Amino acid sequence: MKLLVTGGCGFIGSAVIRQILGDGLTGSDKRVFECQNGRDQPLHIVNVDALTMIPAELARAAVPSRSKNYTFIQADIRDAVGIDSIFNTHRPDAVMHLAAETHVDHSIQHPKGFIETNILGTFNLLNAALAYWQGNGQPAGFRFHHVSTDEVYGRLGDHGRFSEESCYNPCNPYSATKASSDHLVRAWFETYGLPVVMSNCSNNFGPFQLPEKLIPKIITCALDGKDIPIYGEGKQCRDWIHVSDHAIALIKVLLQGQIGRSYNIGAENEMNNMELTRQVCNILDQLRPQNSSYSELIRMVEDRPGHDFRYAIDPSRIQKELDWQPKITMDIGLKDTVKWYLENRDWWNPLVDKQSG
Ligand SMILES: NC(=O)c1ccc[n+]([C@@H]2O[C@H](COP(=O)([O-])OP(=O)(O)OC[C@H]3O[C@@H](n4cnc5c(N)ncnc54)[C@H](O)[C@@H]3O)[C@@H](O)[C@H]2O)c1
Repeated sequence: MKLLVTGGCGFIGSAVIRQILGDGLTGSDKRVFECQNGRDQPLHIVNVDALTMIPAELARAAVPSRSKNYTFIQADIRDAVGIDSIFNTHRPDAVMHLAAETHVDHSIQHPKGFIETNILGTFNLLNAALAYWQGNGQPAGFRFHHVSTDEVYGRLGDHGRFSEESCYNPCNPYSATKASSDHLVRAWFETYGLPVVMSNCSNNFGPFQLPEKLIPKIITCALDGKDIPIYGEGKQCRDWIHVSDHAIALIKVLLQGQIGRSYNIGAENEMNNMELTRQVCNILDQLRPQNSSYSELIRMVEDRPGHDFRYAIDPSRIQKELDWQPKITMDIGLKDTVKWYLENRDWWNPLVDKQSG
């Protein structure tokens, strides 16, 4: 079986590749994977990534790049001809599409790139996948898995959670482009019969996340003795999941998900940004104590426009239908993540320098 992963050098894509090619899958998940994969041969991964965010040497650290079951192609999903040629050359049995522009702040400043990659790039992939699938006798096992976010549902008040039936109501350019891509994927299933599965997940955390995202930003600012900026009053609430739990859920959706169906993924860990920041600072105080608490570096900054108040996922469909449960608690996951950033300054320091330079 050959799996084409787009965006496999990114935070979540690399976690999926580590789960599949490394020893990340254990026990019942490994058995499900072997059984659903249905072949004795190991799965081969073709990773297509434009390396828009990180240089190749840092990307190599995140994926088991020396595995004989791994091929890396530096390519851009905005290049329709290039993407067609990758399908015809590598002949994938399935696609997991994660490549995207992902930072909300960048999308507010430069929305065009988000429209080109997240909407037109997804359109190119759908066209290439459809032509390839139709041109090869419409193999029954073929799947196109589109990876998306809970942000497509917009904002919640104090109560309620997003289910797969919730209305789409994206409120910033990033979530609007992800919502558009979700609609395209659904249309390619309904109109052309392309065998798709979809998933929408809440906020991820864990190793190899870019230092511009909230949790790595708190850790790296604290370790560099810089102010830790928190938007508004820090009351925005997010539902957190460890990236390894998301990666296992994605593999289950790809292998076991019902064609045409979408699955909401979340670990039921709601926390507001201020609580989260204080918890990360407390962990740093324990693991790398200094004279004063890292929480003294917290600074409130002007809120982001269109900032959604609260997201929360109802994960009952994936729990019941695909027998998936998160395994990593917020306490343990956060502690491991802080430890990872403490031990891997070589990975994140050049990225922080690039941001500030
Ligand atoms: N991080 C989260 O909390 C979260 C939650 C739910 C869903 N998602 C979704 O998961 C996917 C992966 O997110 P992530 O956090 O790993 O993001 P990321 O920014 O870490 O990784 C995205 C990857 O896509 C690549 N890429 C960007 N533009 C490209 C292009 N035009 N052609 C080819 N490759 C390109 C980048 O080089 C990068 O390696 C995205 O689709 C995102 O919307 C993320």
